[in-house]
Amino acid sequence: MAGTSLFILISQVDTQYEFRNPILEKKPPRLHAAPMRILTGLQPSGKLHIGNFFGAMEPAIRLQSHGDAYYFIANYHAMTSLHDGPALLANTHELAVDFLACGLDPGKAVFFRQSDVPEVNELAWILSTVCPMGLLERCHSFKDKVAKGIAANHALFAYPVLMAADILLYDSNLVPVGKDQKQHLEVTRDLAVKINEALGEGTLTVPDALIRDDTAVVPGIDGQKMSKSYGNTIPLFGEEKQMRKLMMKIVSDSTPVEDPKPTENSAILGLYKLFASEADYQTMVQSFLNGGAGYGSYKTQLWEAYWNYFTPMRQRREEILADPGYVDDVLQQGALRARETASKVLTCIRKATGLSR
Ligand code: ADP
Ligand code: TRP
Repeated sequence: MAGTSLFILISQVDTQYEFRNPILEKKPPRLHAAPMRILTGLQPSGKLHIGNFFGAMEPAIRLQSHGDAYYFIANYHAMTSLHDGPALLANTHELAVDFLACGLDPGKAVFFRQSDVPEVNELAWILSTVCPMGLLERCHSFKDKVAKGIAANHALFAYPVLMAADILLYDSNLVPVGKDQKQHLEVTRDLAVKINEALGEGTLTVPDALIRDDTAVVPGIDGQKMSKSYGNTIPLFGEEKQMRKLMMKIVSDSTPVEDPKPTENSAILGLYKLFASEADYQTMVQSFLNGGAGYGSYKTQLWEAYWNYFTPMRQRREEILADPGYVDDVLQQGALRARETASKVLTCIRKATGLSR
């Protein structure tokens, strides 16, 4: 793994905390007095890629031993881009297998499907009653998706409110996400504050986003932000030959082999940093600066680092796939535990709003 990783904590006072890789190497700082509740969600809208891994999954897996972890599959959210029942079901299962293969430990984290706790929709409604239109109109993610031709339906517009409900329903303190979700976390915080002003301080817990600065935006094979919707992803798991071929497609320029290569904004270096040791990364940087090697050889090194990094996870994935009932059992257990927590928060808020006595 690369050297020092820096996390940015989005809270009232932006604070930076430093702790090193690899996974579980060092305890994160205590950010909250009580056991910290950590929550994150991933949409089953396509194959998981290394941007998802370094932006959200790896920090979540690392944090699962340091608090009360709640990780879920955001299948309601995926419906904003996917209206194909069998595909949604298949993606949901695959995401569960892949997250578990990467190290999510159901003995430590509550792992569940969003739709197994339908109460989240009730909280989303309550939040929407205090949510100004302007707050949602300003969301980049909505504007970007519409610009890309996705239908501007109500669910797409209200997406951040449902996301806020996901987070607030579980009294979450810390939400590990990639940088693109920063604004959604700000909306969540705003809505929690508005509810607390309306219904009493402490009704909802105001969460912090945890954004890894060094992997905030993982580049795709075209050098832009890696994203399922840009078709530029490197999946976590794939067939060896295809993955190697994909790696060779990573964008580079036409600098001749013998010349020094630009290091700034290099997708190859940006990706290699994620997988290589600090020393190996620095060696590649130096080689770029010296010249004398072609991009093909750097891509081969990157390929090897990537393939080796995910080898233990690929093996674990095979074991999970060989045990057909395992994933469903994990998700069922997770749903029971998640629902128990959710019902406590919802009971309080139902009373506070006057929906029930
Ligand atoms: P995608 O953009 O591929 O559809 P999602 O929106 O499902 O990905 O994102 C799931 C999680 O992965 C989020 O926390 C998001 O911030 C993170 N993430 C996605 N792409 C990247 C990236 N290129 N770099 C860092 N984090 C990312
Ligand atoms: N919007 C997130 C994404 O696109 C997925 C998500 C839904 C989420 N609900 C969440 C992430 C709650 C963190 C917390 O990646």
